[in-house]
Amino acid sequence: MHNKEELIGGRIGKIYRVKETVVRPSNKWTKDIHCFLQFLHEEGADFVPKPYGINENKEEILSFMPGDVFNYPLPEKLLSDAMIVSASKLLFKFHTYSERYVSRLTNCEQWMLPASYPIEVMCHGDFAPYNVTIVNNEASGIIDFDTLHPGPKMWDITYAIYRWVPFKSPNNPDSYGNLKEQIRKAKLFLDTYGVDREGKSSFVSVLMKRLKSLTDFMVYEAGNGNKDFQLNIEAGHLRQYLDDIKYLERNEEEITCGIK
Ligand SMILES: Nc1ncnc2c1ncn2[C@@H]1O[C@H](COP(=O)(O)OP(=O)(O)O)[C@@H](O)[C@H]1O
Ligand SMILES: [Mg+2]
Repeated sequence: MHNKEELIGGRIGKIYRVKETVVRPSNKWTKDIHCFLQFLHEEGADFVPKPYGINENKEEILSFMPGDVFNYPLPEKLLSDAMIVSASKLLFKFHTYSERYVSRLTNCEQWMLPASYPIEVMCHGDFAPYNVTIVNNEASGIIDFDTLHPGPKMWDITYAIYRWVPFKSPNNPDSYGNLKEQIRKAKLFLDTYGVDREGKSSFVSVLMKRLKSLTDFMVYEAGNGNKDFQLNIEAGHLRQYLDDIKYLERNEEEITCGIK
């Protein structure tokens, strides 16, 4: 196709830029995600892509968000305190819009991931550096809404901290800083967002539950023939998540105390 440029950083050979739009594979949840993105735009949220429907090749069309997107290993500027503050503010802003959608849910929607309870907001589900555009050293736009689902705010916040600090076991190549430094950055993210004492005290248990639900999902999908997840497991990602859960469990007391 004319003017079709492959975008890198996600699934290989499947995501393209065509002029000011992005073309990605659609799924059974895509229609419900487009309704959500349309609602957000009507509410004035210009930091998410505009949905333009599904084409004859069963691909979704979205507006192209300006900026740079980074993946692991993250460059130094993505690991700074300023970036933690910026990412936390963007997630807070997203939730202030996404919570307005909750009263519109019919329970007939299809999502990739199951709802998590109590439902407070629409969770992005994968609020990570590789799904956020950076403009002038600030977290600016949010992309890749495939994992959107209803859930508690902490469900998204804990996972974001796992990805942005990144708060991972030292055995994980994406991990950054020692435990003390990880705790300090997690606290910075939580305080910037405005998480209260109760939310903070649940941080480790919610993150462990979030990662466990991810590993269960990976195993289930791979067992049902999902090639992306089979490759993920072969690449050692499942083992890394399980190792990160153990790391959190081992250090639960020190982390909970340190982020107060
Ligand atoms: N709406 C968008 N605006 C700008 N860039 C995008 C958009 N959607 C995807 N991209 C680019 O394409 C890359 C892969 O897209 P993504 O949708 O995250 O793939 P995957 O679903 O495989 O994770 C991203 O890293 C980003 O650079
Ligand atoms: Mg992505």
